[in-house]
Amino acid sequence: MLGTRSEIFSSGGKQKMTSLDQQIIICRCEDLTLSDVRGLIEKGYRTLDELRRISRLGMGPCQGRTCRPLVQRELQAGGVPMKSQSIGVIRPPAMPITLGAIADGSEEGQKDA
Ligand code: FES
Repeated sequence: MLGTRSEIFSSGGKQKMTSLDQQIIICRCEDLTLSDVRGLIEKGYRTLDELRRISRLGMGPCQGRTCRPLVQRELQAGGVPMKSQSIGVIRPPAMPITLGAIADGSEEGQKDA
């Protein structure tokens, strides 16, 4: 069973986090801060898929479009070279669509045509 949010994201005190790190939002969809992400990387989560599974990072409405590059930068700073980072598993829908478009059976751009 997973612990509390602070137990999951705590770095265990290995890296000193500033109050600013706790305020900088990395994944706005899932409400993860820079401190959260750095804590997970320090705990040994070294891939986007691992980070996604433990924190739901990249699983929000934007499907990681906003946070993925920021997390890749943090992984690189944590010692995971950009070349060795995979983009992770991307599952459909690859782009966010409205429920109305699904109900209509149409594609977003074709609605007004
Ligand atoms: S900002 Fe991370 S999933 Fe949208």
